[in-house]
Amino acid sequence: MNIEHRIISKLTAERARMKKLVKEHGSFNVAEVTVEQLYGGIRGVPIGVTDISHVNQQEGLRLRGFTIPEVLENLPKADGAEFPLAGGLYYLLMTGEMPTKQEADQVEIEWKVRSNVPDHVFKSLAPMPAYTHPMTLFSQAILALQSESVFARRFYYGIDKEDYWGYYLEDSLNLTAKLPTIIANIYNLKYRNGIFVQPNPKLDWSANFAWMIGKHDPAYMDLMRLFVVLHSDHEGANVSTHASHLVGSALSDIYLSCASGMNGLAGPLHGLANQECLRWLLDVLSHFKGKLPDDEQLSIYLHEFISSGRLIPGYGHAVLRVTDPRFLAQREFALKYLPDDPVFQLVEKVYQILPGILKENEKVKNPWPNVDAINGTLQHYFGLNEMDFYTVLFGFSRILGITTHVTWSRALGKPIERPKSLTTDILEKMIEGE
Ligand SMILES: CC(C)(COP(=O)(O)OP(=O)(O)OC[C@H]1O[C@@H](n2cnc3c(N)ncnc32)[C@H](O)[C@@H]1OP(=O)(O)O)[C@@H](O)C(=O)NCCC(=O)NCCS
Repeated sequence: MNIEHRIISKLTAERARMKKLVKEHGSFNVAEVTVEQLYGGIRGVPIGVTDISHVNQQEGLRLRGFTIPEVLENLPKADGAEFPLAGGLYYLLMTGEMPTKQEADQVEIEWKVRSNVPDHVFKSLAPMPAYTHPMTLFSQAILALQSESVFARRFYYGIDKEDYWGYYLEDSLNLTAKLPTIIANIYNLKYRNGIFVQPNPKLDWSANFAWMIGKHDPAYMDLMRLFVVLHSDHEGANVSTHASHLVGSALSDIYLSCASGMNGLAGPLHGLANQECLRWLLDVLSHFKGKLPDDEQLSIYLHEFISSGRLIPGYGHAVLRVTDPRFLAQREFALKYLPDDPVFQLVEKVYQILPGILKENEKVKNPWPNVDAINGTLQHYFGLNEMDFYTVLFGFSRILGITTHVTWSRALGKPIERPKSLTTDILEKMIEGE
């Protein structure tokens, strides 16, 4: 069954489930909001419901109820590959069902058919100054594609609101199909003298990015397959997913919604953080003149670094309280393919020593590594050294999750988001009990 038919087969039940909750428990109080939370980024306040993924303090991310090891084991693989086909992952995210190999292949074929990127997209990027950040080019390319939105065109002529989601799905398949070509050729524009490379029809979605940037090593293709799974979704309330969801709630189409999300991902407190970690590891190595420090040297260095008020990138997490399983999956990959790489050896040493040091500070809620602690090391090993591109890789994967959130919100008929803001005067009067 394809994605559309599988969604149709579940839609009546999912709509009824939501309606029943609202009808029978509409006044149930889920959470209260404190003044601290109002001023503190609404931290921890539930702002929506999604079944696409969930982050649990103790086990980390689950995609459609499956842990990361389960997803990696059960999703169908490309022939001869160790890691899953993105087509199968998209099927799982969109439908909530673990696909067969045939269903995963069908999505990959669907993507190939829709992969052609109209000329105007790259023409709009070419005149940008050479120093433009690749995330700006990525967001710009997605916006340029908005001219092709099927939903926007059909909405103009009138559509039954029960049917919105089908056009969002159509746009989602069209956009995601083009992503490998878009991001690979942004890479080529910025770092390979602007050569344009077409996708290889024999390769799957994730591996095709590798191919188009001139990396034909099967191990790097497998790394990209792994990377895409690990970065595809992370609940509904992080900045990029929530931004896209919010914009989509105004019935802005998938292109407008995803460009907003990517603009959020480009912020240094969100997606841009992942380039900081590799930079930090390389700085540590250069401090020790390229040699791996021994335990004592590293411990002194880390103590001094933290005492100077700085944060160690790649460590800590707002929700997780254990080592991020996405870190562990990539660590396993590194142990297999790059055990002797000096940067990875430093990652290992920091992993042995730093949690103990962070635990000395009672305020640190999670002393363990997150996904960013190793991402860049793997890319660096395979020669993708342009750190400002790492956020684009993150966005490339994350759009699989984002388009799923936005499509399902239309399928469930969710309304425009409209929370409420207060004035300081009103808040003070509320506190005084007026
Ligand atoms: C991820 C992060 C933003 C979570 O923030 P948080 O929920 O506020 O974290 P905590 O509640 O554990 O922070 C409590 C204290 O521990 C400190 N702390 C947390 N992570 C730390 C780290 N990686 N290095 C040093 N100190 C850290 C904080 O500075 C804070 O101290 P303060 O109250 O004196 O400012 C934070 O751990 C961080 O900035 N990590 C480094 C950047 C990073 O890896 N980002 C990517 C996240 S996926």
